[in-house]
Amino acid sequence: MMQQLDVEACRRQFPGLARQVGGRPAVFFDGPGGSQVPSVVIDAMTDCLTHRNANDGGLFATSREVGEVVNSARQAVADLIGAPDPDEVVFGQNMTTLTFALSRSLARTWRQGDEVVVTRLDHDANVTPWVLAAEEAGAVVRVLDIDPTNCTLRLDQFQNLLTDRTRLVAVGLASNAVGTVNPIGEMVAAARRVGALVFVDAVHIVPHRPVDVMALGADFLACSCYKFFGPHLGVLWGRREHLERLPAYKVRPAPDSIPGRWMTGTPSFEAIAGTRAAVDYLAGIGGGSDRGVALATGYAAIQGYENALAEQFLDGIARLPAWRVWGITDSARLADRVPTFGLTHRTKPAAEVAGILGEQGYFVWNGHFYAPGLIDAIGLAKAGMLRVGFLHYNTASEIDRLLNVLGDLGT
Ligand SMILES: Cc1ncc(COP(=O)(O)O)c(C=O)c1O
Repeated sequence: MMQQLDVEACRRQFPGLARQVGGRPAVFFDGPGGSQVPSVVIDAMTDCLTHRNANDGGLFATSREVGEVVNSARQAVADLIGAPDPDEVVFGQNMTTLTFALSRSLARTWRQGDEVVVTRLDHDANVTPWVLAAEEAGAVVRVLDIDPTNCTLRLDQFQNLLTDRTRLVAVGLASNAVGTVNPIGEMVAAARRVGALVFVDAVHIVPHRPVDVMALGADFLACSCYKFFGPHLGVLWGRREHLERLPAYKVRPAPDSIPGRWMTGTPSFEAIAGTRAAVDYLAGIGGGSDRGVALATGYAAIQGYENALAEQFLDGIARLPAWRVWGITDSARLADRVPTFGLTHRTKPAAEVAGILGEQGYFVWNGHFYAPGLIDAIGLAKAGMLRVGFLHYNTASEIDRLLNVLGDLGT
C-alpha cells in the first residue's frame, strides 16, 4: 500500500510557513517560483558556514571537510536523479547559468546548417541559450509547437522536426507556467535514432516527481535546488563521455577532470551543503536507510497527496465560471500534469488579482513566468496569467480558502 503523506509533520519542518499576514496564516502558493526550506537545510547551511568555512582542496581540516560536503552532496543529487556516477553532477549558480555555459560548449561542436530543436512550452532558460548558441554556430533552430487548447506539446509533429542534421533536442519535463508534464520518453528515443543529443530541463518536475536520468535516456539534465526545498543553486548532470569530451570554458589551473572542469570559480559551499539536506528531507518523507528507495517512497506519497490537491482545485474552479484554467483540466489526466495552474479571470487582470490575494496573505505569481513561447501562443502576452502552484506542504483547507476568495472576485 502506498505510504500516506503526513502533511502536518512536513509543515512543522518549514519555519517559513509560520508566517502570518494581517493576523492570518500566510498561504504559500508561490512554489513554482521557489519553495520554502525545511530547518534541516537551514541548519546544514549554518553548519557549513560556522564549522567548515574554507575553500576546498587544501591540506587542513576545514578545507577537507568542505570537500566532503561537496562530495556527499554530489552523491545525494546522483541518488535524487538516478545518475550512476556522482562525478557527473555539476553545481553552479542556477539552471540558467549552467545551461548557457553548456550551450556555448556544445555550439563549438556544431557546424553551419546543423539543427537544434526547442519547444514553445519551455521556460526560456531552455530556449534562448540554444537559440543564441545556434546563431553563433550558423545552426538552424526548429520549434516544436503546442496545442493551445490544453497547452501540451504537438508530439505528432516532433518526428517531422528531426533530420540527420539535428544535433540537439532541448525539452522540459514539466511546464512551470501551466503544469503540463511532457511524455518525453518517446522524444528521447526518436532523437537518439537520428543521433541527436537530448537536454532535459527538470526544474519544474523535481519538487513533484522522481527523475531517473538513466530511464529517460537523456544526455544532459538540469534542475534548480531552490525549487525542491533547497537553497539557490543549480545542478547540471551530463553523461561522463560528454562532460569529458566537450570543450569546457574554464580557467587554466582548474581541474581538467570532471566535474571540476565545468565548475567555474568558487561555488556556494553552503548552498551545496543545503542541497544535500534538501535531498535528505525528501528521502525522509519516504523513510528508511537506503536513500534511493526512500526517495521513491517519498515521491509516491508526495504525488498521491498532490493529485488529491489538484483534483480538489480543478473541481472547485470548474464551479467558478469567471475563471479559466490553462492547460490540462481533466481530473482523469492528473498523471499528465503537476499541480501548477495558470489561470485567467474573465474581466479582472491577473496583476490586480495577484495584488488582492497578496494583501490577504495568498502568495501567488502573475505574469509570463519566463515562458514567452507559451504565453504568446495562447494570446496572453499582454495580460499574463495568475499562477497558483501547490507543493506537498500545502493543504486542502488552504485550497478551499483560495477558492472562496477567487469566487468572491465575482464574474
Ligand atoms: C522550468 C524552469 N526552467 C528553468 C528555470 C530557470 O531556473 P534558474 O532560476 O535556476 O535559472 C526555471 C525557473 O523558474 C523554471 O521554472
